Amino acid sequence: SRPIKIAPSILSADFSRLGDEVKAIDQAGADYIHIDVMDGHFVPNISFGPVVISAIRKVTAKPFDVHLMIAPVDPYIQAFAKAGADIITVHAEAGPHLHRTLQTIKAEGKKAGVVVNPATPVSALELVIDNIDLLLIMSVNPGFGGQSFIPEALVKLRQAKALIGRRDIDLEIDGGVTADNAGEIARAGANVFVAGSSVYHGNDPATYAARIAAIRNA
Ligand code: DX5
Ligand code: ZN
Repeated sequence: SRPIKIAPSILSADFSRLGDEVKAIDQAGADYIHIDVMDGHFVPNISFGPVVISAIRKVTAKPFDVHLMIAPVDPYIQAFAKAGADIITVHAEAGPHLHRTLQTIKAEGKKAGVVVNPATPVSALELVIDNIDLLLIMSVNPGFGGQSFIPEALVKLRQAKALIGRRDIDLEIDGGVTADNAGEIARAGANVFVAGSSVYHGNDPATYAARIAAIRNA
């Protein structure tokens, strides 16, 4: 089975100390830095864009797992690649030309991910499965940290695991992940765990290593 990776989401970081918050999760054992980009259009919240990503690119060498909750997405792929993204994940729902979007990401030399919202079936990805490096299942409606895990995501993880088969593709889960549900999420097939509030809650860097370890060990 694939190695477990923990991807803390900086959406729940203290933005007044963002560089230090990124360094802190790097030192606390994060495998990926999960970066939530929101446009106030595809999702009902606005976060940050390429300028902020380039700024934090200077403080860590960990892979940047960039989750784009924006539409349209194609005009911005190159900017996120240049800002330092390693994996660029786009929503299947964000536009009519998902296959083209994935080709655009690959043309930038980056890993390509696709994510599905809670109401979108895994079967929507059948025809792009050979074009992706990461498949992300949303276990909340995207837009905000701190929401509760939607249990139907476990069914979708099993379906996604079957669709992936023996391909070299990470299976990631995002939303409401805690040390309490990480075990069943792993048994359903996920190997990359996004965790925002369950790592950053309280914004005390002294707690991050234990919280990341708790999710990993679960
Ligand atoms: C939601 C984002 C998530 C969010 C997760 O739109 O995609 O990455 O930060 O936060 P938690 O772990 O608190 O649910
Ligand atoms: Zn996310």
